[in-house]
Amino acid sequence: MSTVPNVRVPADASRLPMTLPRLAEMKRLGQPIVMVTAYDYPSARAAEAAGVDLVLVGDSGAMTVLGHPSTVPVELDELLMLAKATRRGLRTPFLVGDLPFGSYEVSDAQAIQTAMRFVKEAGCDAVKLEGGGETSVARARAIVNAGIPVMGHVGLTPQTSTALGGYRAQGRNAGAAERIARGAIALQDAGCFSIVFEAIPSAVAEELMAHLEIPVIGIGAGPATDGQVLVFHDLLGIREGLGARFVKRYADLQKEMDAGITAFAADVRGRHYPAPEHGYSIDAAELSEFRAALENGA
Ligand code: KIV
Repeated sequence: MSTVPNVRVPADASRLPMTLPRLAEMKRLGQPIVMVTAYDYPSARAAEAAGVDLVLVGDSGAMTVLGHPSTVPVELDELLMLAKATRRGLRTPFLVGDLPFGSYEVSDAQAIQTAMRFVKEAGCDAVKLEGGGETSVARARAIVNAGIPVMGHVGLTPQTSTALGGYRAQGRNAGAAERIARGAIALQDAGCFSIVFEAIPSAVAEELMAHLEIPVIGIGAGPATDGQVLVFHDLLGIREGLGARFVKRYADLQKEMDAGITAFAADVRGRHYPAPEHGYSIDAAELSEFRAALENGA
């Protein structure tokens, strides 16, 4: 007989807010953890309605909503604005804010200050930072010691993709896989509550799972991780092109949006919109009075 308590994660309106103990429990029970990115009120409402466990205001918003060619240029204040809007749309998922490039590397004090802004100003529950090297591990430890939960991120870390040789899978030889392992374990030892594995071989992720006690969320890391994350715009097809190999598209919203706006433009140009039902009325006597006033030079 199992001694595991019967902890459930209900997917209805009575769903309880996600907490760190519940997240750890999900790992212990082998319940898959669902994370999605969101960047504003409507994407947050969609994540809430779907009953996901974690929402990440990713610095991928630099590309998906701000139109930059990479995640590097996004400003801290821009991501905070996206995080505040996301917070307003959420009730139950655990909200993680992504520390943008340049907002945490310089010193522990800088990292703590930035993390605090995500918590105090945007209402985030935790922050995420990239990298498993000495600097990232030290910053993670400092933020955890300041009382803010931290999610790590190893493998393909887009903020430093130039140094990694571009947007490509990482850990594809023994030495590189070992470096990822060392980083992941160091982040766990620094107190991270969870860690993202991005774009690493499925077999490497599977081997690593035995060495990690914290929930691991994969993106392009195969099925062995405790959970999966996808970028909102990738999974809903709000983009041009297919994206990375690991993206599975569950809708084609870009096509829907293009078709909707094309139809609106055609209606306006063809004088089919607005129709009478889209307008407001005025009492006939009021209209006559208004006309007379206009004629008298009102
Ligand atoms: O910024 C982001 O969207 C991310 C996820 C890919 C984990 O870091």
